[in-house]
Parts: sequence; C-alpha cells; structure tokens
Amino acid sequence: MSKYEDKIKKLLAKMTVEEKVGQLQQCGPSLVGAFEVSFEELLDMMFDGRISKEEFDRLMGTAKQDFHEDDLRAGRVGSYNGIGSAAQVNKLQKIAVEETRLGIPLIFGYDVIHGFKTITPIPLAESCAWEPSLWERTGRIAAKEASAAGIHMTFAPMVDVSKDARWGRVSEGAGEDVLLNGLYGAAKVRGFQGDNLSKEDSIVACIKHFAAYGAVEAGRDYNCVDMSMQRLYEEYLPSYKMCIDAGARAVMPAFNDINGIPCSVNKWLLMDLLRKQWGFNGMTVSDANAIAECVNHGIALDGREAAKKALEAGLDIDMTSNTYIKYVEELVKNEEIDEEILDRAVADVLRIKFELGLFDNPYQTNEAHESTAMLKPEYRALAREAAVKSMVLLKNEKDSNGKKILPLEKGVNLGIFGEVAGNGDEMTGAWAIGADSGSCVSILDACKERDIFYQTGTKDNVDEIVKSSDVLLAVIGEKKDESGEASSRAKITISHEQISLLKKLLKTGKPVVAILFNGRPLAIPFVAENVPAILEAWHLGVEAGNAILDILFGDEIPTGKLTMTFPNATGQCPMYYAHINTGRPGGKSKFTSKYIDAPVEPLYPFGYGLSYTEYEYSDIAVKKNGDLYEASINVKNIGERDGEEIVQCYVRNMAAGRVRPVKELKAFEKVALQAGEKKEVTFNIKAEDLGYYNWNMEYVKEAKEYVFYIGGNSKDCLEVSIKD
Ligand code: BGC
Repeated sequence: MSKYEDKIKKLLAKMTVEEKVGQLQQCGPSLVGAFEVSFEELLDMMFDGRISKEEFDRLMGTAKQDFHEDDLRAGRVGSYNGIGSAAQVNKLQKIAVEETRLGIPLIFGYDVIHGFKTITPIPLAESCAWEPSLWERTGRIAAKEASAAGIHMTFAPMVDVSKDARWGRVSEGAGEDVLLNGLYGAAKVRGFQGDNLSKEDSIVACIKHFAAYGAVEAGRDYNCVDMSMQRLYEEYLPSYKMCIDAGARAVMPAFNDINGIPCSVNKWLLMDLLRKQWGFNGMTVSDANAIAECVNHGIALDGREAAKKALEAGLDIDMTSNTYIKYVEELVKNEEIDEEILDRAVADVLRIKFELGLFDNPYQTNEAHESTAMLKPEYRALAREAAVKSMVLLKNEKDSNGKKILPLEKGVNLGIFGEVAGNGDEMTGAWAIGADSGSCVSILDACKERDIFYQTGTKDNVDEIVKSSDVLLAVIGEKKDESGEASSRAKITISHEQISLLKKLLKTGKPVVAILFNGRPLAIPFVAENVPAILEAWHLGVEAGNAILDILFGDEIPTGKLTMTFPNATGQCPMYYAHINTGRPGGKSKFTSKYIDAPVEPLYPFGYGLSYTEYEYSDIAVKKNGDLYEASINVKNIGERDGEEIVQCYVRNMAAGRVRPVKELKAFEKVALQAGEKKEVTFNIKAEDLGYYNWNMEYVKEAKEYVFYIGGNSKDCLEVSIKD
C-alpha cells in the first residue's frame, strides 16, 4: 500500500481509542471575548444588515481566538483549519510534538483557492485560459506561499462540473465541461503537491466537493442532487477521477446528497467507488460541519448516529462538527463500531502525515522570513499573465470612424464609471481569505501608475465627465460577495442602477466599453445588444488593474474563451452546450423545445471569445487509424496581429443505444499564429474516449456515425462525419 504501513501499524498499536479519535478531529480557532454572540450569529448579523461590514471587521479584528490548546495537549486534535501564520502553526505544532503523549504532528489545512497572498484569477476566470501549464504554475506559487505560512493542505481544487450559473460556487471551478474541469484539477494537484509531498513547499491537494456538488437542484447552494447513474459517471465523476490519477492525496465529500444519500455518509461513494474502484488511499475530510448536518438531511436521528454512519461510510476527518470527538470513543467501546473501522480512518490520516514528512520535520523552518516569501515580483508577474489570459473579449464593434473600439489608442482620456474601478479588494473575488487588504492593483491604481488621464464619474455627473473624455469605461457586474459559497442568485443580471448608468453613457455618443466583474455568467442581453465593446474581466486578483489596461491598450491580445455558457435569461438555467438534442430541438415551430419569452440560444456560447485578430478555419478532415481518430483542420490568422487561438474539437455520436449530447469537448489546443500564418492542427482522439454508459451501466463504444466539429467556439465549427 505504501512504504509507511509498518510504521502506521506500530503507531496505531500504541494509541488509545481516544487518541485515535483525536486524529480525526479537525478544529478551527473559535472566537471569544469581544462579543457575546457566536461567530455564525455574527455572520448572520452582518448579512441581514444588523451590523455593517466595517463593524463586523472591527469585531473580528479585536476578537481573541481560542485554539483549543487543552484538547490538543490531551491528544484530542489531529488537524486545524483556517490558520495561516507560521508562528501560530509552529506554536501549536510544538504542543503536539512535545506535550502530547505520542507526539504525533498536526496537519494545518486552509482554503487556498486561487492564491494565498498573491491572489490569481478566480478559478472560473483562470479556466478561460484553457492552459494546463498556467494552472499548474499558479498552483505552485500558491503552494509556496501557503507552505511558508505553515499550511500543509489546501481545500482545493474544486472540480465540480457546474452547468447552472445561478449556483454561486461556479466561481470556484473550471465551468461546465467535465474534461476542462479534470485537466484544470489535475494541473492544480501537480502544482500544489509538487514532485514530492515531503518537500517543505508542497501542500496536499484536497479535491472537492465529491461528488456532483455543481449539480445542486435549481442552482441553490447546499441543495440536493438527483440524477441518473449514467450522467453521474459520464459528466460529473471523471473530473474527480482525473485528480486522483494525478495523485491528489485528500478528498472532501460534498454537502449534498446523491440520489438520497448525503455524500458524507455515502459508503458507495467513499468506499466502493473512491477507494476500491479508483484505488485511492489518501484521506477524506468532511466539509465544514457536514457530519452533524446529516441530522438535518434526515439520514440520522442525532449526532451520534451521524458520526457512526459517516465513519462507517469511510469519512476520515470530521471538520468542525465535533461529532466524532463526542461519540466515536463510546461507539467503539460499546462495540457499535468495529475498532478496525476507526483504525482504517486513522491510518489514512497518519499516512498523509508521514508522506508530508511531518514526523521528521514538523515545523515551518523559515518562520522569521515568512513575509518575504509572499507577493514576490515574479509571483505578481505570473498573476498578471494569468489575469491577461483569463479575460474574454465578448464584443468589439467599430466606432463612427470605422475603427474597432478596442484596443484603445495610447493617450486617450478616460471617463471611468462604477464604484468597483477603484476598489482593488473587490477584484480579488470570492475565497481570497488570505489576501492582504490593499494588495490588489485596481483599475484606477493602474491608470495612475501609467500616467493615463482619467476622471471618475457617477450616473449623476455623466455630462460633466464626458466633456473631457474620449472613451467611457463602465465597470459593472457583481461584487465579490455576490458569487462564491452561499451566494446563489435567482436573477443573474446586473442592477437597474447599472443599466440606467449604461443608458446615460450610451446617450453621450462617446465609445463605451463595459468591463464586467463577476464570478459567474450573467444574463445581460441589454449590455450585449447596446454596448459596443465588452470585456469580461471576472475577478482577476492582485494584478487585475494592470492586466485590464494591458488588454484595453493592446499591450496584450485577448485570448480567453468562455468555459461556461452565458444565458440570455436566468430562466434558461441550467444552460450548457453539451445538452441532448430531444425529439423536438428548439426551432421555428412553436411545438419545439424552447421558451415563448426567451431565445433558445445562449447569449454567448461555451468556448466563445474574440481577439484583436481573426482566424479562418478550413479543410476539416477525420480518419481512423487503429484505435485513434485523427481529426485535423487548417487555422489561419487573417488579421494584422500575432495571436493565439484556442482550437476546440467536439464530437457527437449520431445514433447510439442511449441519447448522446449534441457536442462533447474531446480535445483542444492553444495555437500561436503570427499575422498571416496558417497551421494544420491535428487532434488524436482515442476511440475509448468516445464511449458512454448504456442502460445497464456498462461502458460501451457503439456508434454508427460520429460527427467531429472543430472551431473557435462550440457554436461556430466546421464539421465532418465518419462512419464507424
Ligand atoms: C466549504 C468548503 C471549504 C470549507 C472549509 C465549507 O463551507 O464548502 O469548500 O473548504 O468550508 O473552509
């Protein structure tokens, strides 16, 4: 199993039941002293407006933290969550190593989702780069910074395929496609874990949320998931599997149930599939409080039963619900849980501690130099590269002189509207919990840095500002807390104020560029129809402002392509390119699959994105060579600038034993093309990868005819068919 099994066995033999359970207990610091209410209540108070965000921050800043040191000394804590400081980590580690009976070191976990201090673009944005090597490199710097702060494990990557833009957590993953999620996740696993987990700058990747959290009903966070096993296996599970195959050492079961069994107590998921079929021997870590919440799910009568079910299902670590620490010792002593089951879970945790090298090197050795390890110039440079590659140019019309609005001429005067333009902290996006306030370059900061003449305006002084502006920038979209966990939305639009601002700006006759900040696709038909240039900037991280100006002024060329479909109306959600055709695909006739009050088409399709140059596709061909389909196409840069095009290859099985999606992404390549240059791009696709699960859940490859589609987005492709 692993070279540590003997050591694990010996250690287990020395442990009391209580000490074993202690290894499964993960706690976070609790807040004490500064106020009478619980942390959860305080959060609620902020969200429902009883206290302001400033008051909340003030209270948090002054609150004392309780690190449960007495429990730790007694061997009742195995890991911590949410501590990101080497000094604090070393202090607690010293207690574990020197003051507990067996001296077993602790693991420190943290949500390093898109950078620790050097915040890089939110995952949904970064996925639009379609570049695994970039994803790996940003993962690597995240690991370097996090490990310098004493962190051993990140609760990332999230590889939940997400087809419903209402779900707030779409910002944390790579969008709606299973292949992209898998490649994104595997790259992050390599980046986080490095080539050897025992190196001080490697951290464990805990993939989440296993499984299918992205498919929660109605896009509502924490909701249920009910789907056929075929879809689960074809469209949701492969992204997790690709991460396991890349070596991910931890897995977090999701909050949701699947077909009635919550993932935290789902033995089929955690034992049969993950461990037996996929061969995973790392550790599983519950989501926050998730074991106790099994009572709310209605799958356990009380915390005791929930703990029993979760442990028996194969859930090793209890994150903050305290059910294991309360009940498991007694359950084992009463012989209601077999001690072997407890031992198996503890062995998983010890194995990771050995792999991390914590028994030999428990401390962060560079504590005094922690701060110099953060936000290094080369990290910022990478964050800027990632931000540039994450942006998607959605629209770029010509102005009254017949010239494309973007890129802007150097030296133009800007009128900048939208409160977010000057607020760097807003540009970090959801789950940037390690970020230092003020570390992010806003659009206004970047303008100052470059000596660009700009004025900021509001909807009330538009006339004044336009007088001395050549171009108007409207910075609109979502604030950072409008996406992420617990931020599902029933209306994924922009506000009335933003629309009325746009109307005023458009009336002036000056060119208007909308810069979108958002953590999800938005249904914004008004913007798409009326604003002549639209740049999707997502939440780009610490170098947001610099990267945006790089693109606006043409120092860099836009290359990003959407990894989630943008709907026209919220009511179209879930909307995704890989849908099935139905017996009556939406068309002109009333009696087809569509809406009477919204188009059947998306606003922007999956894979879409413009550039400052254009590409022409020709000569698509496909042939079968043994077990490979070789699909090729010529791509030519027909514009005047050198560029990079993300060439996408989709396949459809035209008639199978079970209905198949109208397109499935099977391969892609980012191709560099100088102005005027033409290249042949060839994709080799294994026949094996074109299979599907039949009614009896057997993976079969049967097909009569495949159609291969290749193009620059999922909608505009050339196609060629091949009989099987
Ligand atoms: C989230 C997880 C996260 C955990 C720990 C939970 O609420 O669902 O994604 O890793 O908190 O902070």
